[in-house]
Amino acid sequence: MRLTRYFLPVLKENPSEASIVSHRYMLRAGMIKQSSAGIYSWLPLGFKVLKNIENIVHEEQIRAGHIPMLMPTIQPADLWRESGRYEDYGEEMLRIKDRHGHDMLFGPTNEEMITDIFRAHVGSYKDLPLTLYHIQWKFRDERRPRFGVMRGREFYMKDGYNFDLSKEDALHAYNRHLVSYLRTYERMGLQAIPMRADSGPIGGDDTHEFLVLADTGESEVFYDSAITDLKFGDREIDYDSVEQCQNVLEEFTSRYARTDETHDEAAFANVPEERRRSARGIEVGQIFYFGTKYSESMGATVINDKQEQIPVHMGSHGIGVSRLVGAIIEASHDDKGIIWPEGVTPFHCGIVNLKQGDAEADAACEALYSALESHGLEPLYDDRNERAGGKFATMDLIGLPWRITVGPRGLKNGVVELTSRRTGESQEMAPDAAVARVAEIYANL
Ligand SMILES: Nc1ncnc2c1ncn2[C@@H]1O[C@H](COP(=O)(O)OP(=O)(O)O)[C@@H](O)[C@H]1O
Ligand SMILES: [Mg+2]
Repeated sequence: MRLTRYFLPVLKENPSEASIVSHRYMLRAGMIKQSSAGIYSWLPLGFKVLKNIENIVHEEQIRAGHIPMLMPTIQPADLWRESGRYEDYGEEMLRIKDRHGHDMLFGPTNEEMITDIFRAHVGSYKDLPLTLYHIQWKFRDERRPRFGVMRGREFYMKDGYNFDLSKEDALHAYNRHLVSYLRTYERMGLQAIPMRADSGPIGGDDTHEFLVLADTGESEVFYDSAITDLKFGDREIDYDSVEQCQNVLEEFTSRYARTDETHDEAAFANVPEERRRSARGIEVGQIFYFGTKYSESMGATVINDKQEQIPVHMGSHGIGVSRLVGAIIEASHDDKGIIWPEGVTPFHCGIVNLKQGDAEADAACEALYSALESHGLEPLYDDRNERAGGKFATMDLIGLPWRITVGPRGLKNGVVELTSRRTGESQEMAPDAAVARVAEIYANL
């Protein structure tokens, strides 16, 4: 992409409505525009990051054996009357009447709808286990939408649902989700710590939230600092192996880590004092096992191998896809702007031409552009007739992890400059070498 042909409405001033850094940078970098409280348009740059995050979520769900589908945003109220949640959900639910007077709602989540699909099509234990998921817009009429996309009213979420014959099988599904989430967040350059949490209106006993530590987080958390040394890394895992998934769960949840809802001072006191931490965190996902709550109330049953009709054991598992855009910025920025992790960056590499219109510099930039593209990379070329300072400021704000700077002086010596956004370090090298270096970084992701 060439900047002169792109739509990147960068703001010079700090928007007054933004109180946290991710919201401020998302507005300033032209990623989003608010349309009403807690509802945003995703402008091209923001949309790219959102899609990159969504793709990682899809890849990791599919790797874990979960099956993608898509349910509608608008749901009939009757389904929610069956589960009893139509009344329970309260003011957060956006209720709508259609022209025939039918009660509808904009879905805040999909337990009821997926259970309805399941009961219509599945009747035998032979069809289990089954985990279906979708990534779809949700609406919750939050009392205080704030912090930009972090607590929106309309937001994008992955929600997955497992159906199993027994509690034991459903707990394996729970563990499998935990493992796949660890991988998912790490690929986005995040450390998200699973913490024991409270199940709230979904019901059930087993639940973990995944929290990214950040001062601006809305949750108060308490943990054993040893947990931050854990890394999932690139280990191979067989998602069908009960034992392997269980082992990972134990490794990542045996240390004390809880949100304020389940915090227990007495248990926390057992953590060595120098490792006790209290901090704030951003909830980027949550997994639940809730047993037969929905299957019993809605009649989602299967025939088991003894010809008995039994309700299935279920869980639901969410990832806050749109919130993650903000959470990643909270975790990765400096005072000049965003610093995208390579896994989610909207463009792989920026190209800055220090002297637009100079025949040699222009040609060198074009050559770099095609060379990066031929490696399957997407460059963003700042080809505006602007001063170097302005170009650098834009690149720093939008946070591409790598930048190649091209100027007539360097070209005389056969070099361009490759700069890391994270460290600020620059290295002069031949254009080919710079391209090879950038290609290698992304190939190793
Ligand atoms: N209002 C919101 N705006 C953006 N993301 C949200 C919002 N509410 C929930 N999410 C994201 O969706 C994920 C799953 O939602 P869920 O656990 O059902 O929500 P909650 O914890 O608010 O009850 C959360 O972990 C969070 O990342
Ligand atoms: Mg939650």
